[in-house]
Amino acid sequence: MPKFPEKPKKPARVISVSSGKGGVGKSNLTLSLSYALTALKKKVLIWDADLGLANTDVLLGIRAKHPIPDWLKGEKTLSEIILEAPGGVSILPAASGILELSDITGEEKARLMADFDDWKGEPDFLLIDTAAGIGQNVIFFNLVAPEHIVVLNNEPTSITDAYALIKALVTKYRQKGFYVLPNMVGDLREAKEVFKLISDVAGQYLPQASLDLLGFVPRDEAVPSAVKRQTPFFHLYPQAEASRKIGEVARRLLSLEPPGGGGGGLALFLDRLGAGSLSVN
Ligand SMILES: Nc1ncnc2c1ncn2[C@@H]1O[C@H](COP(=O)(O)OP(=O)(O)OP(=O)(O)O)[C@@H](O)[C@H]1O
Ligand SMILES: [Mg+2]
Repeated sequence: MPKFPEKPKKPARVISVSSGKGGVGKSNLTLSLSYALTALKKKVLIWDADLGLANTDVLLGIRAKHPIPDWLKGEKTLSEIILEAPGGVSILPAASGILELSDITGEEKARLMADFDDWKGEPDFLLIDTAAGIGQNVIFFNLVAPEHIVVLNNEPTSITDAYALIKALVTKYRQKGFYVLPNMVGDLREAKEVFKLISDVAGQYLPQASLDLLGFVPRDEAVPSAVKRQTPFFHLYPQAEASRKIGEVARRLLSLEPPGGGGGGLALFLDRLGAGSLSVN
């Protein structure tokens, strides 16, 4: 039988998940969003980029093997670095030392891209779970990602800190588009209230920014209960309200056209990884 050539694969969508204030649910939402996207037949790689307190591996009950710089330096292959979680989601564990990496040369980039081919090929999504705050690392990982999800709760500190992050990324680093994702709210009405608070201020002071309500996740006992069992809530409690809503977020994300048509993918990501460290200050 002649083999038909496979359809060319679309470049990965690289999306950062950040928050300003800590403890608002970034890691849990990133993980369950990945499972929801996997359920929609998408291949997802999570970069756990919380260099201080990386915990995606703890949320999954798996252990990191080698640090990412070992891969970037060519000492380990991607398959040796990546953790394969039950359910088909893959995790790149936190990468301390990444800011110290100098420019990635064209040759190194080609090697890293080939390494992705040797692994499972380019994923559909690379989700970057960052630390809280607006420190150098958070900014860096936001600059390597062309798309940004900002998670926040309905608390003045959480909203103010989310705005401070967006403001820094817009005014100092010329980022434009943000998906706002209220978590631990009661219902859609409350999510819209939170969104209005932040988008009104952004509309007034950051007219070049565009904010979009991505969906919301309600406060749900299923989330801490799943954390205790070291399993993503979407996987453990698919019928829970939080799971249904993160499923809606996944579908919404698929329906959104990434900026610039989504071109670039991992190749652009690797370029930015090399150059990004130089532009953060
Ligand atoms: N929708 C929710 N309903 C109830 N509890 C939640 C929900 N989302 C998150 N939580 C709880 O909030 C806590 C913080 O969640 P998580 O670790 O995901 O936040 P984070 O933003 O990644 O924190 P950090 O800034 O420390 O990285 C966890 O104990 C989790 O169980
Ligand atoms: Mg976290």
